[in-house]
Amino acid sequence: MLQVYPDYEALSAAAAEFSRSAGRESFLKRGRFDLVLSGGRTPKRAYELLAPMIRLDVRLRGALRVFWGDERCVPPESDESNYRLAKETLIDPALIPARSVFRIQGESPDPAAEAERYDSVFPAAPDLIVLGMGADGHTASLFPGSPALKETARRFVAVTGPVEPKRRISLSPAGLTSARRVLVIASGPDKASALARVLAEDGDVSRTPARLVRDGNWLVDRALADAAGIR
Ligand code: 6PG
Repeated sequence: MLQVYPDYEALSAAAAEFSRSAGRESFLKRGRFDLVLSGGRTPKRAYELLAPMIRLDVRLRGALRVFWGDERCVPPESDESNYRLAKETLIDPALIPARSVFRIQGESPDPAAEAERYDSVFPAAPDLIVLGMGADGHTASLFPGSPALKETARRFVAVTGPVEPKRRISLSPAGLTSARRVLVIASGPDKASALARVLAEDGDVSRTPARLVRDGNWLVDRALADAAGIR
């Protein structure tokens, strides 16, 4: 499913509402909401808008557990940390308690061991995984041509990407497909060719890893849709 919004603010509001609604449904059906957050900058505004929705919904907040789909191998206080972005824009403003937050320890000196540890605490079927997409078609930290794209057993892997910070811990294809729901948010015309490759009838996951989640819920802004030739 692909939905187009007039601009980044409208896209972010829709992503926040999608996440809240998915959380309410998960809570009512299963008594919990296991939410997996994306890194990158795109989700920042959505997190800021989602925070009061969660703060004010005490029952949803009590059922919520927060995880990450990937993390850079940096300390949690680094401005490159996906955890830090979410802590500042969502976790702290929403009053989500520390006991409900399960971060990937990017500071670990052994990323492969941390990927294995994180796999052991990650839920079997997360209720919602939020993802972004890079202009090269990567998602989480699964980059084009990565050996990690062949990982079908482990749900988290240590990877070395082409962009700084290069060392990361990421969901694998096996991890991506474990989610009950996937939300992908993307903004800006620079991602047009990647989006067109995702939406094409056929294509190569190795060239465009975001094709792994082409059946997810895609929310994009009009600038990206127009550049990709999407009405
Ligand atoms: C990361 C993200 C990554 C991100 C895309 C898009 O750790 O960088 O998980 O997959 O979602 O690179 O990044 P922007 O939202 O900053 O364009």
